[in-house]
Amino acid sequence: MADATTTDPVYVTETLIAEDIDAYLDQHQHKTMLRFITCGSVDDGKSTLIGRLLYDSKMIFEDQLAALESDSKKVGTQGQEIDFALLVDGLAAEREQGITIDVAYRFFNTEKRKFIVADCPGHEQYTRNMVTGASTADLAVILIDARKGVLVQTRRHSYLCRLIGIRNIVLAVNKMDLVDYDQSVFDGIVADYTAFAASIGIDSFTAMPISGFKGDNITTRSANTPWYSGPTLVDHLETVEVNSARDAEKPFRLPVQWVNRPNLDFRGFSGLIATGSVKPGDAVRVLPSGKTSTVTSVVTLDGNLDEAVAGQSVTLCFANEIDCSRGNVISAADAPPEVADQFEATLVWLNEEALHVGRAYWLKLATQTVSATVQQPKYAVNVNTMEHVAVKTLELNAIGVAELATDKPLVFEAYADNRTLGGFILVDKLTNATVAAGMLHFSLRRAQNVHWQALDISRESRAGLKNQAPAVLWFTGLSGSGKSTIANLVEKQLFRMNRHTFLLDGDNVRHGLNRDLGFTEADRIENIRRVGEVARLMVDAGLIVITAFISPFRAEREMVRSLIPEGEFFEVFIDTPLAVAEERDVKGLYKKARAGNLKNFTGIDSPYEAPANPEIRIDTTTTTPEEAARLIVDALLGDR
Ligand code: ADX
Repeated sequence: MADATTTDPVYVTETLIAEDIDAYLDQHQHKTMLRFITCGSVDDGKSTLIGRLLYDSKMIFEDQLAALESDSKKVGTQGQEIDFALLVDGLAAEREQGITIDVAYRFFNTEKRKFIVADCPGHEQYTRNMVTGASTADLAVILIDARKGVLVQTRRHSYLCRLIGIRNIVLAVNKMDLVDYDQSVFDGIVADYTAFAASIGIDSFTAMPISGFKGDNITTRSANTPWYSGPTLVDHLETVEVNSARDAEKPFRLPVQWVNRPNLDFRGFSGLIATGSVKPGDAVRVLPSGKTSTVTSVVTLDGNLDEAVAGQSVTLCFANEIDCSRGNVISAADAPPEVADQFEATLVWLNEEALHVGRAYWLKLATQTVSATVQQPKYAVNVNTMEHVAVKTLELNAIGVAELATDKPLVFEAYADNRTLGGFILVDKLTNATVAAGMLHFSLRRAQNVHWQALDISRESRAGLKNQAPAVLWFTGLSGSGKSTIANLVEKQLFRMNRHTFLLDGDNVRHGLNRDLGFTEADRIENIRRVGEVARLMVDAGLIVITAFISPFRAEREMVRSLIPEGEFFEVFIDTPLAVAEERDVKGLYKKARAGNLKNFTGIDSPYEAPANPEIRIDTTTTTPEEAARLIVDALLGDR
């Protein structure tokens, strides 16, 4: 415990503050920062331990420590807010990533280092919180209650730490006071954990017998454990190697945040150095373009630098003008990262709404944002037993491995080699919610070997031969709304006007190309994805494509819109109220659905998301099919 001796860090710090504030601030500024997480289950004494660390480093006082301890007894350890927790830095980073999950962060410092500790709740339903808290951590303290030993939670937390790539694991065998500081208890737990750790790929960890409550082996070596010769917890936290030190050794990578161009004479590329170092004269390569240049200066707010390393924010100037913009990655010329558009990755699902296989999400990786779709997962992992389980999707807190494809090439590295260029999040395009955190494993070889073939006959020349401007008329509306009827009339009118058209109709396509698909959400998403791709090929061929699919989800309609060149996509909303469509019930399907004989029927037990801003809207309660067809043809050809 913190006695005021001259070797006591708290005492030394206080004296320095009192006597020489400048020296204190200077020392403080040059301290390294260790980010760590504490994991354990409700009664492992996590809050007590954190309280002890804060208390011993004079961040809180005795009465607050007592309050914290009694609080943690009352409400367990679920990250209750503590108003003296000062931290902003870590939270800001999290926010930048778009993650707003509640993890309690606290800040403290000792004479040697600054610390940010994330207190991650232990239950399985808090897996996402733990992943969030751990994503920036250098070290994890895994707490074990000496009376209980290695539990399911211990295994789950260890697995997650390994997954997230935390290299420094501390096995803190806590509450040693309650087992009379018995060495054999400690040794038994360490032996159990060693066997388990090896099975999940953790090859080293540091075990220590502690008591957060009594303060044994926290800041000072305890007389109660003479048989323990390792470091105290604080000693270890103060000396362990932080990620930033390791990152500095890797090849240079700087994800470009913005192009800095205050005037015509200055053009620099700004961002945070993810790994490696850079200095004037270095040869660099910009990805994905692959263009090279030489660094002329490394600029910061405090002037030009001779060298900058991982963790520093800088602006780089180049010897010649090359294209480089936000999302590009500047790297060492002779050791560039990979570029690909198909990957295998681990995903941790963070959202109440499960993964929609095939739906396009925003994928954000470092400063890059692309559109990405996820395939059906290869498997999910049971986080308690580490078994692989076959799944169709990923629910909240699930962890799984899946392949994904992006619409543009992504500059990346395997997460195991580089957290910044291998870690990503998925964001729902409509709600903007962060739905998943992911770790890239590798790119798929098929992506490397399939190239886009440039064709000599352009889409313009194909359309020109047909003497028309290509377009997609994308009908959407409930079953029985009149899509097929009106689409058919539209096609006849266009045909009479010598236009080259093709009508893709839901019921027909489902007999051929999509006969393997049903009406689950996942199947509908895939249905629309395929039809969207076919429509794209057909407009490229110069045709006017008419599609008649319920296409109930806004996200997929937007996805198709993004496939088709600007101005060529017309969303046609056949607006028929459910009651009217049900009343007509041309195919008798509503009756079946109401009777419970047809599952997932749109409008009954499967949703329909009406378009907010369709190019064309037809109210079929006031417009006849013939009038509707004329309106659509007029809207299409109006300015063509
Ligand atoms: S979509 O939702 O995937 O776009 P699509 O337009 O291809 O649907 O197919 C809809 C047609 O399939 C309907 O007009 C109807 O004839 C038939 N159908 C059969 N089962 C269902 C169902 N559960 N929900 C909606 N339509 C169904």
